[in-house]
Amino acid sequence: MKEKIVNLIADHVEGMTAEEIATFIEIPPKQELGDYAFPCFRLAKTMHKAPNLIAADIKEAIGDVDFLDKIDVQGAYLNFFVKKDIFVQTMIEAALKDNFGGSDEGADKVICIDYSSPNVAKNFHVGHLRTTIIGNSLYKIYSKLGYKVIRINHLGDWGTQFGKLIVAYKNWGTKEAVEKDGVAELMRLYVKFHEEADKNPELVDEARAWFSKMEHGDEEALSIWQWFKDISLVEYKRTYDLLGMDFDYYLGESFYRDKCQDVVDQLTNANLLKESEGAMIVDLSDYDMAPCIVTKKDGSSIYATRDLAAIFYRKNTYHFTKCLYVTGQEQKLHFAQVFKVVELLGNDWAKDSLVHIPYGLVSLEGAKLSTRSGNIIYAEDILHDAIKKSFEIISEKSPNLPDKEEVAKIVGVGSVLFNDLYNQRIKDVSFSWDKVLNFDGETGPYVQYTHARCSSVVRLAENFDPAKPVDYSTISEPDAMNLLKEINRFPKVVSDAAEKYEPSVVARFAVDVAQAFNKFYNSTRINVPEENVKNARVMLTYLTKKTLHDALELLGINAPEAM
Ligand code: ARG
Repeated sequence: MKEKIVNLIADHVEGMTAEEIATFIEIPPKQELGDYAFPCFRLAKTMHKAPNLIAADIKEAIGDVDFLDKIDVQGAYLNFFVKKDIFVQTMIEAALKDNFGGSDEGADKVICIDYSSPNVAKNFHVGHLRTTIIGNSLYKIYSKLGYKVIRINHLGDWGTQFGKLIVAYKNWGTKEAVEKDGVAELMRLYVKFHEEADKNPELVDEARAWFSKMEHGDEEALSIWQWFKDISLVEYKRTYDLLGMDFDYYLGESFYRDKCQDVVDQLTNANLLKESEGAMIVDLSDYDMAPCIVTKKDGSSIYATRDLAAIFYRKNTYHFTKCLYVTGQEQKLHFAQVFKVVELLGNDWAKDSLVHIPYGLVSLEGAKLSTRSGNIIYAEDILHDAIKKSFEIISEKSPNLPDKEEVAKIVGVGSVLFNDLYNQRIKDVSFSWDKVLNFDGETGPYVQYTHARCSSVVRLAENFDPAKPVDYSTISEPDAMNLLKEINRFPKVVSDAAEKYEPSVVARFAVDVAQAFNKFYNSTRINVPEENVKNARVMLTYLTKKTLHDALELLGINAPEAM
Protein backbone atom coordinates (compact mmCIF):
# COMPACT_ATOMS: atom_id res chain seq x y z
CA MET A 1 0.00 0.00 0.00
CA LYS A 2 2.81 2.35 0.92
CA GLU A 3 4.40 1.63 -2.43
CA LYS A 4 1.19 2.49 -4.27
CA ILE A 5 1.03 5.82 -2.47
CA VAL A 6 4.67 6.56 -3.14
CA ASN A 7 4.14 5.97 -6.86
CA LEU A 8 1.10 8.18 -6.83
CA ILE A 9 3.10 11.06 -5.38
CA ALA A 10 6.11 10.38 -7.58
CA ASP A 11 3.94 10.84 -10.68
CA HIS A 12 3.03 14.36 -9.60
CA VAL A 13 6.13 15.96 -8.15
CA GLU A 14 9.43 17.24 -9.48
CA GLY A 15 12.87 16.82 -8.01
CA MET A 16 12.29 13.78 -5.84
CA THR A 17 12.62 10.09 -6.71
CA ALA A 18 10.23 7.40 -5.51
CA GLU A 19 12.92 6.07 -3.13
CA GLU A 20 13.31 9.50 -1.58
CA ILE A 21 9.58 9.91 -1.23
CA ALA A 22 9.35 6.52 0.49
CA THR A 23 11.75 7.67 3.21
CA PHE A 24 9.55 10.68 3.99
CA ILE A 25 6.21 8.87 4.19
CA GLU A 26 4.96 8.80 7.77
CA ILE A 27 2.39 6.73 9.59
CA PRO A 28 0.29 9.36 11.39
CA PRO A 29 -0.13 8.88 15.13
CA LYS A 30 -3.89 9.48 14.97
CA GLN A 31 -6.63 7.89 12.92
CA GLU A 32 -8.04 11.36 12.02
CA LEU A 33 -4.82 12.08 10.13
CA GLY A 34 -5.26 9.16 7.78
CA ASP A 35 -3.22 6.03 7.17
CA TYR A 36 -0.19 7.62 5.52
CA ALA A 37 1.12 11.17 5.46
CA PHE A 38 3.60 12.97 3.24
CA PRO A 39 5.23 16.28 4.28
CA CYS A 40 5.88 18.64 1.38
CA PHE A 41 8.60 20.86 2.94
CA ARG A 42 11.36 19.26 0.94
CA LEU A 43 9.70 20.12 -2.35
CA ALA A 44 9.58 23.87 -1.72
CA LYS A 45 13.01 24.40 -3.26
CA THR A 46 12.57 22.40 -6.44
CA MET A 47 8.96 23.40 -7.03
CA HIS A 48 9.44 27.07 -6.02
CA LYS A 49 6.29 27.33 -3.92
CA ALA A 50 5.19 27.26 -0.32
CA PRO A 51 4.81 23.69 1.00
CA ASN A 52 1.10 24.05 1.78
CA LEU A 53 0.41 25.22 -1.76
CA ILE A 54 2.39 22.33 -3.15
CA ALA A 55 0.34 19.94 -1.02
CA ALA A 56 -2.87 21.42 -2.41
CA ASP A 57 -1.55 21.19 -5.99
CA ILE A 58 -0.55 17.55 -5.62
CA LYS A 59 -3.95 16.68 -4.19
CA GLU A 60 -5.62 18.44 -7.12
CA ALA A 61 -3.39 16.70 -9.67
CA ILE A 62 -3.93 13.24 -8.22
CA GLY A 63 -7.71 13.56 -8.25
CA ASP A 64 -9.82 10.47 -7.51
CA VAL A 65 -8.07 7.17 -6.89
CA ASP A 66 -9.81 3.80 -6.72
CA PHE A 67 -8.11 2.63 -3.51
CA LEU A 68 -8.41 5.91 -1.60
CA ASP A 69 -11.35 7.33 0.31
CA LYS A 70 -9.84 10.79 0.20
CA ILE A 71 -6.70 12.90 0.43
CA ASP A 72 -6.67 15.75 2.98
CA VAL A 73 -4.35 18.72 3.02
CA GLN A 74 -3.31 19.79 6.52
CA GLY A 75 -0.77 22.56 6.39
CA ALA A 76 2.23 21.18 4.52
CA TYR A 77 1.01 17.63 4.87
CA LEU A 78 -0.89 15.39 2.50
CA ASN A 79 -2.91 12.85 4.48
CA PHE A 80 -3.99 9.74 2.65
CA PHE A 81 -7.07 7.80 3.73
CA VAL A 82 -7.02 4.35 2.22
CA LYS A 83 -10.41 2.66 1.60
CA LYS A 84 -10.84 0.73 4.77
CA ASP A 85 -11.56 -2.70 3.38
CA ILE A 86 -8.70 -2.49 0.90
CA PHE A 87 -6.38 -1.36 3.66
CA VAL A 88 -7.53 -4.17 5.94
CA GLN A 89 -7.17 -6.74 3.18
CA THR A 90 -3.63 -5.62 2.30
CA MET A 91 -2.54 -5.74 5.93
CA ILE A 92 -4.09 -9.13 6.60
CA GLU A 93 -2.63 -10.66 3.47
CA ALA A 94 0.83 -9.36 4.38
CA ALA A 95 0.62 -10.64 7.94
CA LEU A 96 -0.55 -14.08 6.79
CA LYS A 97 2.63 -14.74 4.80
CA ASP A 98 4.87 -17.42 6.28
CA ASN A 99 7.92 -15.22 6.54
CA PHE A 100 6.02 -12.09 7.61
CA GLY A 101 8.51 -9.81 9.31
CA GLY A 102 11.41 -11.31 7.38
CA SER A 103 13.01 -10.48 4.06
CA ASP A 104 15.81 -11.62 1.79
CA GLU A 105 18.06 -8.60 2.29
CA GLY A 106 20.75 -10.89 3.62
CA ALA A 107 20.70 -13.46 0.80
CA ASP A 108 24.28 -14.59 0.02
CA LYS A 109 25.68 -12.66 2.97
CA VAL A 110 27.39 -14.12 6.01
CA ILE A 111 27.38 -12.65 9.50
CA CYS A 112 29.57 -14.10 12.24
CA ILE A 113 28.41 -13.54 15.79
CA ASP A 114 30.93 -14.05 18.57
CA TYR A 115 28.99 -14.32 21.82
CA SER A 116 28.59 -16.10 25.15
CA SER A 117 32.27 -17.14 25.31
CA PRO A 118 32.63 -17.97 29.01
CA ASN A 119 36.05 -18.40 30.56
CA VAL A 120 36.98 -22.03 31.15
CA ALA A 121 37.32 -22.99 34.81
CA LYS A 122 35.16 -20.03 35.79
CA ASN A 123 31.46 -20.09 36.42
CA PHE A 124 28.92 -19.15 33.79
CA HIS A 125 27.57 -16.09 35.52
CA VAL A 126 24.79 -13.64 34.86
CA GLY A 127 26.94 -11.38 32.67
CA HIS A 128 27.64 -14.29 30.33
CA LEU A 129 23.95 -15.01 30.35
CA ARG A 130 23.38 -11.57 28.87
CA THR A 131 25.83 -11.95 25.97
CA THR A 132 24.35 -15.39 25.32
CA ILE A 133 20.80 -14.10 25.21
CA ILE A 134 21.56 -10.99 23.11
CA GLY A 135 23.82 -12.92 20.73
CA ASN A 136 21.23 -15.64 20.24
CA SER A 137 18.54 -13.08 19.52
CA LEU A 138 20.72 -11.31 16.96
CA TYR A 139 21.31 -14.70 15.34
CA LYS A 140 17.55 -15.20 14.99
CA ILE A 141 16.93 -11.66 13.76
CA TYR A 142 19.60 -11.82 11.04
CA SER A 143 18.50 -15.29 10.01
CA LYS A 144 14.96 -13.97 9.54
CA LEU A 145 16.40 -11.37 7.17
CA GLY A 146 17.98 -14.11 5.08
CA TYR A 147 21.58 -13.86 6.29
CA LYS A 148 23.64 -16.96 6.85
CA VAL A 149 24.64 -16.55 10.47
CA ILE A 150 27.60 -18.33 12.05
CA ARG A 151 27.39 -18.65 15.82
CA ILE A 152 30.82 -18.73 17.40
CA ASN A 153 31.62 -19.44 21.03
CA HIS A 154 35.05 -17.89 21.58
CA LEU A 155 35.74 -19.73 24.84
CA GLY A 156 38.32 -18.19 27.13
CA ASP A 157 40.41 -21.37 27.18
CA TRP A 158 43.99 -20.13 26.92
CA GLY A 159 46.25 -17.88 28.96
CA THR A 160 48.42 -17.68 32.04
CA GLN A 161 45.49 -18.42 34.35
CA PHE A 162 45.75 -22.07 33.31
CA GLY A 163 49.34 -22.18 34.51
CA LYS A 164 48.10 -20.95 37.89
CA LEU A 165 45.34 -23.49 37.95
CA ILE A 166 47.72 -26.36 37.22
CA VAL A 167 49.99 -25.25 40.06
CA ALA A 168 47.03 -24.98 42.42
CA TYR A 169 45.69 -28.37 41.41
CA LYS A 170 49.06 -30.03 41.88
CA ASN A 171 49.52 -28.48 45.33
CA TRP A 172 46.07 -28.45 46.86
CA GLY A 173 43.65 -30.28 44.57
CA THR A 174 42.46 -33.84 44.11
CA LYS A 175 40.99 -35.62 41.13
CA GLU A 176 37.95 -36.62 43.19
CA ALA A 177 37.15 -33.07 44.29
CA VAL A 178 37.40 -31.70 40.74
CA GLU A 179 35.24 -34.50 39.40
CA LYS A 180 32.69 -34.04 42.12
CA ASP A 181 32.39 -30.22 42.24
CA GLY A 182 33.53 -29.28 38.74
CA VAL A 183 33.89 -25.57 38.05
CA ALA A 184 33.15 -24.65 41.67
CA GLU A 185 36.24 -26.63 42.75
CA LEU A 186 38.35 -25.09 39.97
CA MET A 187 37.32 -21.64 41.14
CA ARG A 188 38.20 -22.57 44.70
CA LEU A 189 41.66 -23.67 43.51
CA TYR A 190 42.12 -20.44 41.59
CA VAL A 191 41.29 -18.33 44.64
CA LYS A 192 43.59 -20.52 46.75
CA PHE A 193 46.43 -19.90 44.27
CA HIS A 194 46.15 -16.14 44.70
CA GLU A 195 46.02 -16.39 48.49
CA GLU A 196 49.13 -18.55 48.54
CA ALA A 197 50.98 -16.53 45.91
CA ASP A 198 50.62 -13.42 48.07
CA LYS A 199 52.71 -15.21 50.69
CA ASN A 200 55.00 -17.04 48.28
CA PRO A 201 55.66 -15.16 45.01
CA GLU A 202 57.66 -18.07 43.58
CA LEU A 203 54.34 -19.72 42.79
CA VAL A 204 53.81 -17.10 40.11
CA ASP A 205 57.01 -18.17 38.35
CA GLU A 206 55.93 -21.77 38.60
CA ALA A 207 52.60 -20.89 37.05
CA ARG A 208 54.33 -19.04 34.24
CA ALA A 209 56.50 -22.07 33.61
CA TRP A 210 53.44 -24.32 33.36
CA PHE A 211 51.75 -22.02 30.90
CA SER A 212 54.94 -21.91 28.89
CA LYS A 213 54.88 -25.71 28.85
CA MET A 214 51.33 -25.56 27.51
CA GLU A 215 52.43 -23.18 24.79
CA HIS A 216 55.24 -25.55 23.84
CA GLY A 217 52.94 -28.54 23.59
CA ASP A 218 53.93 -30.34 26.80
CA GLU A 219 51.72 -33.42 27.05
CA GLU A 220 51.13 -33.42 30.78
CA ALA A 221 50.29 -29.71 30.89
CA LEU A 222 47.94 -30.01 27.94
CA SER A 223 46.13 -33.03 29.27
CA ILE A 224 45.36 -31.35 32.60
CA TRP A 225 44.23 -28.24 30.73
CA GLN A 226 42.01 -30.31 28.41
CA TRP A 227 40.46 -32.01 31.42
CA PHE A 228 39.62 -28.66 33.03
CA LYS A 229 38.10 -27.56 29.75
CA ASP A 230 35.99 -30.70 29.33
CA ILE A 231 34.66 -30.38 32.85
CA SER A 232 33.75 -26.73 32.29
CA LEU A 233 32.07 -27.44 28.97
CA VAL A 234 29.78 -30.04 30.53
CA GLU A 235 28.49 -27.34 32.87
CA TYR A 236 28.18 -24.67 30.18
CA LYS A 237 26.27 -27.05 27.95
CA ARG A 238 23.80 -27.71 30.73
CA THR A 239 23.03 -23.99 30.75
CA TYR A 240 22.78 -23.85 26.94
CA ASP A 241 20.39 -26.81 27.00
CA LEU A 242 18.17 -25.08 29.52
CA LEU A 243 18.14 -22.01 27.30
CA GLY A 244 17.51 -24.12 24.19
CA MET A 245 20.55 -22.59 22.51
CA ASP A 246 23.36 -23.92 20.42
CA PHE A 247 26.48 -22.82 18.52
CA ASP A 248 27.93 -23.66 15.15
CA TYR A 249 31.46 -23.62 16.51
CA TYR A 250 33.13 -23.77 19.87
CA LEU A 251 36.41 -22.27 18.77
CA GLY A 252 38.08 -20.94 21.86
CA GLU A 253 41.17 -18.82 22.17
CA SER A 254 43.36 -21.95 22.20
CA PHE A 255 42.33 -22.65 18.60
CA TYR A 256 44.32 -19.60 17.51
CA ARG A 257 47.53 -20.33 19.36
CA ASP A 258 49.29 -21.56 16.23
CA LYS A 259 47.82 -18.70 14.18
CA CYS A 260 49.32 -15.87 16.22
CA GLN A 261 52.76 -16.02 14.61
CA ASP A 262 51.24 -15.08 11.28
CA VAL A 263 49.78 -11.94 12.89
CA VAL A 264 53.19 -11.06 14.31
CA ASP A 265 54.77 -11.59 10.87
CA GLN A 266 52.20 -9.42 9.12
CA LEU A 267 52.74 -6.63 11.66
CA THR A 268 56.50 -6.94 11.38
CA ASN A 269 56.40 -6.76 7.57
CA ALA A 270 54.15 -3.73 7.74
CA ASN A 271 56.57 -2.07 10.15
CA LEU A 272 53.89 -1.65 12.76
CA LEU A 273 55.53 -3.43 15.69
CA LYS A 274 57.49 -1.52 18.28
CA GLU A 275 59.31 -2.71 21.34
CA SER A 276 58.20 -1.36 24.66
CA GLU A 277 59.59 -2.64 27.95
CA GLY A 278 60.34 -5.97 26.31
CA ALA A 279 56.83 -6.36 24.92
CA MET A 280 55.90 -5.87 21.28
CA ILE A 281 53.16 -3.34 20.71
CA VAL A 282 51.33 -1.41 18.02
CA ASP A 283 51.39 2.28 18.82
CA LEU A 284 47.89 3.73 18.54
CA SER A 285 48.56 7.19 19.93
CA ASP A 286 47.56 8.73 16.58
CA TYR A 287 44.09 7.41 17.29
CA ASP A 288 43.95 8.47 20.93
CA MET A 289 44.21 4.94 22.18
CA ALA A 290 46.58 3.07 24.43
CA PRO A 291 48.95 0.77 22.51
CA CYS A 292 47.76 -2.70 21.53
CA ILE A 293 50.07 -5.27 23.09
CA VAL A 294 50.78 -8.10 20.69
CA THR A 295 53.36 -10.24 22.48
CA LYS A 296 54.57 -10.19 26.06
CA LYS A 297 58.17 -10.08 27.27
CA ASP A 298 58.49 -13.85 27.04
CA GLY A 299 57.08 -13.84 23.52
CA SER A 300 53.72 -15.32 24.48
CA SER A 301 50.49 -14.15 22.89
CA ILE A 302 47.72 -12.38 24.77
CA TYR A 303 43.94 -12.03 24.47
CA ALA A 304 44.30 -9.33 21.79
CA THR A 305 46.74 -11.37 19.69
CA ARG A 306 44.32 -14.26 19.61
CA ASP A 307 41.48 -11.93 18.65
CA LEU A 308 43.57 -10.60 15.77
CA ALA A 309 44.30 -14.13 14.59
CA ALA A 310 40.60 -15.01 14.93
CA ILE A 311 39.54 -12.11 12.71
CA PHE A 312 41.80 -13.22 9.85
CA TYR A 313 40.79 -16.83 10.27
CA ARG A 314 37.08 -15.93 10.17
CA LYS A 315 37.45 -13.59 7.22
CA ASN A 316 39.28 -16.24 5.18
CA THR A 317 37.08 -19.13 6.26
CA TYR A 318 33.56 -17.67 6.32
CA HIS A 319 33.98 -14.55 4.13
CA PHE A 320 31.74 -12.57 6.46
CA THR A 321 30.22 -9.22 5.57
CA LYS A 322 30.06 -8.52 9.28
CA CYS A 323 31.57 -9.99 12.38
CA LEU A 324 29.78 -8.98 15.58
CA TYR A 325 31.16 -9.23 19.12
CA VAL A 326 28.72 -9.23 22.01
CA THR A 327 30.49 -8.47 25.32
CA GLY A 328 30.22 -6.17 28.32
CA GLN A 329 31.09 -2.55 27.66
CA GLU A 330 34.30 -2.80 29.65
CA GLN A 331 35.84 -4.41 26.56
CA LYS A 332 35.16 -1.38 24.39
CA LEU A 333 38.80 -0.27 24.26
CA HIS A 334 40.05 -3.80 23.60
CA PHE A 335 37.91 -4.13 20.48
CA ALA A 336 38.62 -0.60 19.29
CA GLN A 337 42.36 -1.39 19.47
CA VAL A 338 42.09 -4.75 17.77
CA PHE A 339 39.87 -3.44 14.96
CA LYS A 340 42.24 -0.52 14.40
CA VAL A 341 45.23 -2.83 14.09
CA VAL A 342 43.41 -4.90 11.46
CA GLU A 343 42.64 -1.71 9.56
CA LEU A 344 46.24 -0.50 9.80
CA LEU A 345 47.30 -3.71 8.09
CA GLY A 346 45.54 -2.38 4.99
CA ASN A 347 42.17 -4.04 5.48
CA ASP A 348 39.64 -1.37 4.65
CA TRP A 349 36.74 -3.75 5.24
CA ALA A 350 37.52 -3.68 8.96
CA LYS A 351 35.89 -0.26 9.30
CA ASP A 352 32.36 -1.38 8.51
CA SER A 353 32.46 -5.09 9.13
CA LEU A 354 33.87 -5.44 12.61
CA VAL A 355 31.35 -4.36 15.19
CA HIS A 356 31.53 -4.45 18.95
CA ILE A 357 28.11 -4.76 20.56
CA PRO A 358 28.41 -3.80 24.22
CA TYR A 359 25.79 -4.23 26.90
CA GLY A 360 25.22 -2.96 30.43
CA LEU A 361 25.64 -4.66 33.77
CA VAL A 362 23.18 -6.98 35.44
CA SER A 363 22.42 -6.44 39.08
CA LEU A 364 20.37 -8.62 41.37
CA GLU A 365 17.84 -6.60 43.34
CA GLY A 366 20.41 -3.83 43.48
CA ALA A 367 23.52 -5.90 44.29
CA LYS A 368 26.17 -6.09 41.59
CA LEU A 369 26.71 -9.58 40.30
CA SER A 370 30.33 -10.40 39.88
CA THR A 371 32.84 -13.00 40.86
CA ARG A 372 35.10 -10.46 42.49
CA SER A 373 32.57 -9.13 44.98
CA GLY A 374 32.11 -12.72 46.09
CA ASN A 375 28.46 -12.56 45.16
CA ILE A 376 28.60 -15.42 42.69
CA ILE A 377 25.38 -16.09 40.89
CA TYR A 378 25.39 -19.01 38.49
CA ALA A 379 23.18 -18.50 35.46
CA GLU A 380 21.96 -22.06 35.84
CA ASP A 381 20.67 -21.32 39.35
CA ILE A 382 18.73 -18.28 38.19
CA LEU A 383 17.09 -20.32 35.44
CA HIS A 384 16.16 -23.13 37.82
CA ASP A 385 14.73 -20.64 40.31
CA ALA A 386 12.71 -19.01 37.55
CA ILE A 387 11.28 -22.38 36.51
CA LYS A 388 10.41 -23.25 40.11
CA LYS A 389 8.72 -19.93 40.76
CA SER A 390 6.81 -20.12 37.47
CA PHE A 391 5.59 -23.57 38.42
CA GLU A 392 4.18 -22.17 41.67
CA ILE A 393 2.42 -19.29 39.91
CA ILE A 394 1.01 -21.50 37.16
CA SER A 395 -0.20 -24.13 39.63
CA GLU A 396 -2.10 -21.44 41.44
CA LYS A 397 -3.48 -19.70 38.36
CA SER A 398 -4.33 -22.78 36.28
CA PRO A 399 -4.50 -25.82 38.56
CA ASN A 400 -5.98 -27.96 35.78
CA LEU A 401 -3.33 -27.31 33.17
CA PRO A 402 -2.11 -30.76 32.06
CA ASP A 403 1.59 -30.17 31.27
CA LYS A 404 2.43 -27.69 34.01
CA GLU A 405 6.11 -28.66 34.23
CA GLU A 406 6.75 -28.19 30.56
CA VAL A 407 4.93 -24.85 30.58
CA ALA A 408 6.77 -23.71 33.73
CA LYS A 409 10.06 -24.36 31.97
CA ILE A 410 9.03 -22.30 28.94
CA VAL A 411 7.67 -19.47 31.08
CA GLY A 412 10.50 -19.46 33.62
CA VAL A 413 13.30 -19.45 31.07
CA GLY A 414 11.37 -17.04 28.86
CA SER A 415 10.91 -14.60 31.74
CA VAL A 416 14.66 -14.33 32.33
CA LEU A 417 15.39 -13.91 28.62
CA PHE A 418 12.72 -11.28 28.19
CA ASN A 419 13.93 -9.29 31.18
CA ASP A 420 17.42 -9.17 29.67
CA LEU A 421 16.15 -8.14 26.25
CA TYR A 422 13.40 -5.65 27.07
CA ASN A 423 15.64 -2.69 27.89
CA GLN A 424 18.12 -1.20 25.49
CA ARG A 425 21.13 -3.42 25.71
CA ILE A 426 23.50 -0.65 26.79
CA LYS A 427 21.40 0.03 29.89
CA ASP A 428 22.07 -1.76 33.14
CA VAL A 429 19.47 -4.37 33.99
CA SER A 430 18.19 -4.86 37.47
CA PHE A 431 16.82 -8.22 38.27
CA SER A 432 13.95 -8.68 40.67
CA TRP A 433 11.64 -11.65 40.72
CA ASP A 434 8.53 -9.52 41.23
CA LYS A 435 9.27 -7.67 38.04
CA VAL A 436 10.51 -10.58 35.95
CA LEU A 437 7.55 -12.83 36.71
CA ASN A 438 4.78 -10.26 36.77
CA PHE A 439 2.11 -11.73 34.47
CA ASP A 440 0.52 -8.30 33.99
CA GLY A 441 3.64 -6.22 33.49
CA GLU A 442 5.78 -5.61 30.44
CA THR A 443 7.24 -9.08 30.72
CA GLY A 444 7.80 -12.36 28.93
CA PRO A 445 5.01 -14.11 30.85
CA TYR A 446 2.59 -11.33 29.89
CA VAL A 447 3.33 -11.77 26.19
CA GLN A 448 3.25 -15.56 26.51
CA TYR A 449 -0.05 -15.35 28.38
CA THR A 450 -1.54 -13.20 25.64
CA HIS A 451 -0.33 -15.71 23.07
CA ALA A 452 -2.00 -18.54 25.00
CA ARG A 453 -5.22 -16.53 25.20
CA CYS A 454 -5.18 -16.06 21.41
CA SER A 455 -4.50 -19.77 20.94
CA SER A 456 -7.53 -20.63 22.99
CA VAL A 457 -9.78 -18.27 20.99
CA VAL A 458 -8.57 -19.80 17.72
CA ARG A 459 -8.95 -23.35 19.08
CA LEU A 460 -12.53 -22.72 20.10
CA ALA A 461 -13.51 -21.23 16.74
CA GLU A 462 -14.16 -24.51 15.00
CA ASN A 463 -15.08 -23.23 11.55
CA PHE A 464 -12.17 -20.87 11.27
CA ASP A 465 -9.63 -21.55 8.54
CA PRO A 466 -6.84 -18.97 8.06
CA ALA A 467 -6.54 -19.99 4.40
CA LYS A 468 -10.06 -18.71 3.71
CA PRO A 469 -10.43 -14.96 3.07
CA VAL A 470 -12.60 -13.14 5.59
CA ASP A 471 -15.09 -10.31 5.05
CA TYR A 472 -12.67 -7.39 5.31
CA SER A 473 -15.42 -4.79 5.53
CA THR A 474 -16.40 -6.04 8.99
CA ILE A 475 -13.16 -4.84 10.55
CA SER A 476 -13.44 -1.16 11.35
CA GLU A 477 -13.56 -0.49 15.11
CA PRO A 478 -10.63 1.64 16.31
CA ASP A 479 -9.32 -1.12 18.62
CA ALA A 480 -9.33 -3.65 15.79
CA MET A 481 -7.72 -1.26 13.33
CA ASN A 482 -5.14 -0.29 15.89
CA LEU A 483 -4.25 -3.93 16.55
CA LEU A 484 -3.87 -4.61 12.85
CA LYS A 485 -1.64 -1.59 12.42
CA GLU A 486 0.53 -2.68 15.32
CA ILE A 487 0.93 -6.14 13.83
CA ASN A 488 1.89 -4.61 10.52
CA ARG A 489 4.86 -2.84 12.02
CA PHE A 490 6.63 -6.19 12.31
CA PRO A 491 8.81 -6.02 9.15
CA LYS A 492 10.01 -2.53 10.03
CA VAL A 493 10.63 -3.60 13.63
CA VAL A 494 12.81 -6.54 12.55
CA SER A 495 14.86 -4.45 10.16
CA ASP A 496 15.29 -1.67 12.75
CA ALA A 497 16.39 -4.21 15.36
CA ALA A 498 18.97 -5.59 12.93
CA GLU A 499 20.23 -2.17 11.92
CA LYS A 500 20.72 -1.11 15.54
CA TYR A 501 21.82 -4.53 16.83
CA GLU A 502 19.03 -4.08 19.31
CA PRO A 503 16.72 -6.99 20.22
CA SER A 504 14.85 -4.70 22.64
CA VAL A 505 13.07 -3.22 19.61
CA VAL A 506 11.47 -6.64 19.03
CA ALA A 507 10.73 -7.16 22.74
CA ARG A 508 8.94 -3.81 22.95
CA PHE A 509 7.01 -4.58 19.82
CA ALA A 510 5.82 -7.87 21.35
CA VAL A 511 4.49 -5.98 24.37
CA ASP A 512 2.81 -3.37 22.13
CA VAL A 513 1.03 -6.06 20.12
CA ALA A 514 -0.01 -7.91 23.28
CA GLN A 515 -1.38 -4.70 24.77
CA ALA A 516 -3.22 -3.80 21.57
CA PHE A 517 -4.73 -7.27 21.48
CA ASN A 518 -5.89 -7.15 25.08
CA LYS A 519 -7.51 -3.80 24.47
CA PHE A 520 -9.32 -5.22 21.45
CA TYR A 521 -10.25 -8.37 23.37
CA ASN A 522 -11.73 -6.39 26.25
CA SER A 523 -13.75 -4.05 24.05
CA THR A 524 -14.91 -6.42 21.32
CA ARG A 525 -16.86 -9.65 21.56
CA ILE A 526 -15.34 -12.21 19.27
CA ASN A 527 -17.89 -14.97 19.52
CA VAL A 528 -20.85 -13.15 17.91
CA PRO A 529 -23.69 -14.85 15.99
CA GLU A 530 -22.85 -13.20 12.61
CA GLU A 531 -20.49 -15.75 11.11
CA ASN A 532 -18.63 -13.23 8.88
CA VAL A 533 -17.98 -10.79 11.73
CA LYS A 534 -16.85 -13.57 14.02
CA ASN A 535 -14.52 -15.01 11.38
CA ALA A 536 -12.87 -11.65 10.79
CA ARG A 537 -12.29 -11.17 14.53
CA VAL A 538 -10.88 -14.66 14.88
CA MET A 539 -8.59 -13.84 11.96
CA LEU A 540 -7.24 -10.86 13.88
CA THR A 541 -6.71 -13.09 16.88
CA TYR A 542 -4.99 -15.67 14.73
CA LEU A 543 -2.63 -13.04 13.29
CA THR A 544 -1.87 -11.75 16.78
CA LYS A 545 -1.00 -15.28 17.88
CA LYS A 546 1.20 -15.82 14.82
CA THR A 547 3.01 -12.49 15.21
CA LEU A 548 3.56 -12.86 18.97
CA HIS A 549 4.87 -16.36 18.39
CA ASP A 550 7.32 -15.16 15.73
CA ALA A 551 8.43 -12.11 17.73
CA LEU A 552 9.13 -14.27 20.79
CA GLU A 553 10.95 -16.71 18.55
CA LEU A 554 13.29 -13.88 17.53
CA LEU A 555 14.08 -13.38 21.20
CA GLY A 556 14.77 -17.08 21.68
CA ILE A 557 11.57 -17.57 23.69
CA ASN A 558 8.94 -20.25 23.20
CA ALA A 559 5.22 -19.56 23.23
CA PRO A 560 2.98 -22.07 25.02
CA GLU A 561 -0.46 -22.86 23.59
CA ALA A 562 -2.00 -22.74 27.05
CA MET A 563 -0.80 -21.56 30.43
N1 ARG B 1 35.90 -14.69 27.29
C1 ARG B 1 35.66 -13.29 27.26
C2 ARG B 1 35.03 -12.84 28.57
O1 ARG B 1 34.46 -13.63 29.27
C3 ARG B 1 34.75 -12.87 26.14
C4 ARG B 1 35.25 -13.15 24.76
C5 ARG B 1 34.63 -12.27 23.73
N2 ARG B 1 35.05 -12.57 22.39
C6 ARG B 1 36.21 -12.24 21.85
N3 ARG B 1 36.47 -12.59 20.62
N4 ARG B 1 37.12 -11.57 22.53
O2 ARG B 1 35.07 -11.68 28.90
